[in-house]
Amino acid sequence: MLALTHGVTIRINPIPVLTLASTKILSELRSRRWFADAGMRGFAHRQRMQQQGWRREDVMDRPMIAIINTWSDLSPCHAHLRERAESVKKGILMAGGYPVELPAMSLGEVLVKPTTMLYRNFLAMEVEELLRSLPCDGVVILAGCDKTTPGTLMGAFSMDIPTIFCPAGTMLNDRYVKDGVARTVGAGTHTRMFWDEYQAGNLDAAELQHLESRMTRAPGTCNTMGTASTMTAIAEALGLTLPGASSIPAMDSAHSRMATSCGERIVGMVWEDLRPSTLVTRGSFQNALAVQMALGGSTNAAVHIIAMAGRLGVDLTLDDLDAMGRQVPVLANLFPSGDRLMEDFYYAGGLPALMQVIAPFLSLNERTVAGCTMVDQVNAAQVLDAQVIRPLDQPVSTAGALAVLKGNLAPDGAVIKPSAASDNLLRHTGRALVFDSQPQMLAAMADETLDCDENTILVLRNAGPVGAPGMPEWGNLPIPKKLLRQGVRDMLRLSDARMSGTHYGTCVLHISPESAVGGPLALIQTGDVIELDVPARRLHVQLTPEQLQARRAAWKPADAVATRGFTRLYQQHVTQAHLGCDFDFLQGNAKSPEPVIY
Ligand code: FES
Repeated sequence: MLALTHGVTIRINPIPVLTLASTKILSELRSRRWFADAGMRGFAHRQRMQQQGWRREDVMDRPMIAIINTWSDLSPCHAHLRERAESVKKGILMAGGYPVELPAMSLGEVLVKPTTMLYRNFLAMEVEELLRSLPCDGVVILAGCDKTTPGTLMGAFSMDIPTIFCPAGTMLNDRYVKDGVARTVGAGTHTRMFWDEYQAGNLDAAELQHLESRMTRAPGTCNTMGTASTMTAIAEALGLTLPGASSIPAMDSAHSRMATSCGERIVGMVWEDLRPSTLVTRGSFQNALAVQMALGGSTNAAVHIIAMAGRLGVDLTLDDLDAMGRQVPVLANLFPSGDRLMEDFYYAGGLPALMQVIAPFLSLNERTVAGCTMVDQVNAAQVLDAQVIRPLDQPVSTAGALAVLKGNLAPDGAVIKPSAASDNLLRHTGRALVFDSQPQMLAAMADETLDCDENTILVLRNAGPVGAPGMPEWGNLPIPKKLLRQGVRDMLRLSDARMSGTHYGTCVLHISPESAVGGPLALIQTGDVIELDVPARRLHVQLTPEQLQARRAAWKPADAVATRGFTRLYQQHVTQAHLGCDFDFLQGNAKSPEPVIY
């Protein structure tokens, strides 16, 4: 038998990763059910591993570690993950494990249609079933582009074997020079900004084509504080990454070293039996919420974090998010709330440094996959650029990264990102201009005769989890072209859709219940007067209960139910936005049952 190497200390700039006492012995490993079987099945399982060139003792004496890899040729943010999988394998082998790479659905945010959100639960199911059906003792997850983080983690939580999340890392900054003035630009936020300038006639086609080839110039996730950076930071705040891992740019050599350390550490975690259910607590989720607010994170986190908590049996609600949003100001000076990019955040000390600043709001005794607690992580951190990671008394915004609204238009809640909205629209009353579909809305935005002005409230419905289906990122409705030319760059916009975390504007999102299931959004008409009061957390349409009831009696649901495939399953079982949009049959902390082996 090989010596079991679980006494190693790993270092990730500069925080020590500890190895705790071993609680498992070889015969207790999950993979033993496959390989140590004395009958014909064990004979066949060992035979098939040796078919691939492994030795008998490799499968008999080592824990089997899965590497869930969300690489694909159509997932540009994950273009480097095949190489990173090799780094992870190196670490696993050095620590005495047996690495196996398992490809999983890739979900590149921009190219997957109609929306990656339709497939987040698909990925979660795939990860759970991959790990369940195969002889995996632990798992390293390679992911990062938007839904891939919550999707993979939700599956791993339900499977509940030792898990480390290895974030894909962010792409590099670019520079754009116009009229002699250089600007640092990145993906997402600037895509919308430059497109609006092009629509307004301030950029020509050649400039746009130049930007098209430059703005996403390296592998890695979007480098603004969009959904990808928000969710990988949340994974770190939950204790599921090595310290500082979520802030390392994808193309930095530290990223490869971090991946190797993930491989090395997961082997120790298997012997320690350190599983998500033993590591991630309600306090860990409080830390995740504090980080989301301090980062000015994506509104998408609202659905993902509630769904993730649900998989561990932690009862987290929109009210918890709103409470944290009122306490923790935005301190990370990152687009779209600020004016820097993720590469700058890394140089400024990254997430551990930010967590040091918000330590008063954290539950510091929570454990991490590194074997230490958040106290160790925070104490070892240092802010290196206070312009990027601001002190508590000099926030980027006190308006809050997330506010939860309620009222007769959103009985179960809606969300808004005040820090990326226009101050003058946070209290606003105006006339609704209602669209029933995305194509109808897009056509109207190009109409020079559209009856609207900057005070109009644009409303899109049938864009929620069931109605769209999949709750796409349509909530950042474009500004009507005629108003763009007049210089208007923001308007109040309402929908039951989501919005890209990289986008900005005064957009009320995730209105719940959604219109397709008969939420009040289904009942409003063009010309109705709507009131938004973010400080009072209120979203109201000036209609009496009797008027709403009369309209409800006349309302008929749209005939938009899918007839087959995954979309049908999705529409039948997805929960509403305020509940996280998980499937009703996957919520809760019931552990995935072990397969019968015969
Ligand atoms: Fe992958 Fe933005 S498109 S993170």
